[in-house]
Amino acid sequence: MDSHTVLYGVIGDPVRHSKSPTMLNRAFRESGVNGIYAAFHVKPEQLQEAIAGIRALGFRGLNVTIPHKVDVMACLDEIDEAARSIGAVNTIVHDNGRLIGRNTDGIGYVRSLKEEAEPDLAGKKIVVLGAGGAARGIVWALNREEPSAIWLANRTWDKAKELAGSFDGGPASRVSALPWEQVRDACAEADIVVNTTSVGMSPHIADTPIDPSWLKPGAVASDLIYNPLTTAFLRQAQERGCRIHGGLGMFVYQGAYAFEYWTGLPAPVAAMREEVLTSFT
Ligand code: ATR
Repeated sequence: MDSHTVLYGVIGDPVRHSKSPTMLNRAFRESGVNGIYAAFHVKPEQLQEAIAGIRALGFRGLNVTIPHKVDVMACLDEIDEAARSIGAVNTIVHDNGRLIGRNTDGIGYVRSLKEEAEPDLAGKKIVVLGAGGAARGIVWALNREEPSAIWLANRTWDKAKELAGSFDGGPASRVSALPWEQVRDACAEADIVVNTTSVGMSPHIADTPIDPSWLKPGAVASDLIYNPLTTAFLRQAQERGCRIHGGLGMFVYQGAYAFEYWTGLPAPVAAMREEVLTSFT
């Protein structure tokens, strides 16, 4: 660190659990970037001041986490297409005095899925379980890969319908809401089943969002949860002959995209993953 060190960070409430500082500082070290990344506990009523602060102090980049991903949009100069479509920002790039809001969650998920489980998503049938904030980003990014269908199933039907409806029209109409009673049949047909709900998250590690035996052998079971690294849903799907994809990759690649937007360098993904894994043990 010296007087040229460039500043980065993550804001959230809470934020002390975040593994982003460890992961991004490792990425900076690995790539020889003179940068430093810290965690800032920002309460909702301090959000505007915090953003004014990063402008004044010349931060190059910021990650934004719960509960600020939507409200921060009003503080920025520009919002990119991904963030606009998803309605949430998780990454800010400070470019020549302008703050640009971007979203790397959905594209991070898809890059991880393609690298780690299924390189070609075109023509695939995908079931997405859950219709919350995480599902929105993922469906947006999956849809750009031109699968043949994305079926959204959620405990609360209205939310599945609302999310599917926001993709209505144009090529996006391959996204549709699926009544919960039809999930079993859809899973039997699906090439990929993604859990975006919190079911199975620590400490409720025995729970599964659906019966994993509904998946066809060879299909990909994917879970956004990374605590535990392998959920009961994934473990049971694997026993059935499915390929599995855990949530850690999404976390690593959303950070990798942020790193690439900020520095223009390819992210040292293997080192970033190793760093996060180490912090788990
Ligand atoms: P996130 O931003 O992580 O997506 P969220 O917006 O709170 O969080 O969404 C949580 C998702 O998990 C929702 O789809 C929720 O279903 P509801 O819309 O019916 O609430 C789903 N979820 C949470 N607990 C669940 C449970 N026990 N069974 C089924 N779905 C559950």
